[in-house]
Amino acid sequence: MSDGWIRQVSPMIGDEEALAVQQVVASGWITEGPESRAFVAELKECVGSRFAVLAPNGTLALALGLLALDIGPGDEVLVPDMTFVGSASAVVLTGAKPVFVDVEPVTFQIDMADAERRLTPATKAVMPVHLYGTACDMAAVSAFADRHGLQVIEDAAQSMGVRFRGQHVGTFGDVGCFSFFADKTITTGEGGFVTCQDEGVYERLRLLRNQGRMNSGTFIHPSVGFNLRITDMQAALGRVQLRKLGLIIERKLELLAAYREALSGVRGVRVLGAAEGANHVPFRCAIVVDDAAAFIEHLSSHQIEPRTFFYPLHLQPAFASLRGPDDHGFPNAVAGYEGGICLPLHSALTVDDVSRIARAIRDHQEAAREIGTP
Ligand SMILES: Cc1ncc(COP(=O)(O)O)c(C=O)c1O
Repeated sequence: MSDGWIRQVSPMIGDEEALAVQQVVASGWITEGPESRAFVAELKECVGSRFAVLAPNGTLALALGLLALDIGPGDEVLVPDMTFVGSASAVVLTGAKPVFVDVEPVTFQIDMADAERRLTPATKAVMPVHLYGTACDMAAVSAFADRHGLQVIEDAAQSMGVRFRGQHVGTFGDVGCFSFFADKTITTGEGGFVTCQDEGVYERLRLLRNQGRMNSGTFIHPSVGFNLRITDMQAALGRVQLRKLGLIIERKLELLAAYREALSGVRGVRVLGAAEGANHVPFRCAIVVDDAAAFIEHLSSHQIEPRTFFYPLHLQPAFASLRGPDDHGFPNAVAGYEGGICLPLHSALTVDDVSRIARAIRDHQEAAREIGTP
């Protein structure tokens, strides 16, 4: 990179995307139209969903999905304690209450044994979040939901291309929600989509996203809805991205393999991989070390932009009002935050960049060993 920094995010976008957007602008039809219809059809085909609608971003995709399932005031939704804040704020937007659940110690996916402990009579739904490019155990989530009569909202924001036992994530639950933010596997700048397999839910999604009517062009609104549409410029960009999905995944896996090789033998560094039964489309190169804060400082001093893991939701200042007497604690989410680092993994990264990052990590570990810290 020209300023010497290795940045965290850099989408694989180029002339093809620019041309696609330009053609939409030239056509004069810039709101949802032919490109959006084609994009939805291609997305459905890609993930294997019966129905889908587009959304302005991943957070609003989640809110839309929750609202379509009639989740609102008085309801509780189980949300993993380690996820991006948008998973929980989408629940808050509907008037429902997110109830945090600890995560697994190895994969950092939702811990279903802990979910069981957090159930109350108000629990209406569970939101498995497929984190860091692999999947939650959807067999366990579905069995749990069936046992307790809960709805399932899958947060698949980070998970284009991720399958559990061969089935694309986002198609197991009542709704599945994806994000196309610039750091996601494919991007439209901002954007998202919601999948569902039930025609009734699909109709509610359509009404909610388009001002309470099934189609534009009428001012008679059978129900209350909102404007949660996107534009054909974004859809055109997304269609080009979707055609590159295989290439993007291939590149991500090559870089992850380079990281694994470069970090092999470095003591005290664990590289996260695929969860059991799932594949891995790495969102970042997620590693776990003893003391993430010291590493982050060291990497930044070498012009490498790292990120922490997500800050546990139960500690978020924004959710202080949700805190209650907690018997169970969240040891794994806290340990994940204290030890987790996301290293850059995107198509602009080179194998030389990976070597530079791995060298900085190795140097840090060796220096720590010399002064006797773990
Ligand atoms: C797990 C998860 N859920 C939800 C979101 C929200 O998506 P968006 O930024 O498109 O609103 C993100 C975005 O990073 C995410 O990582």
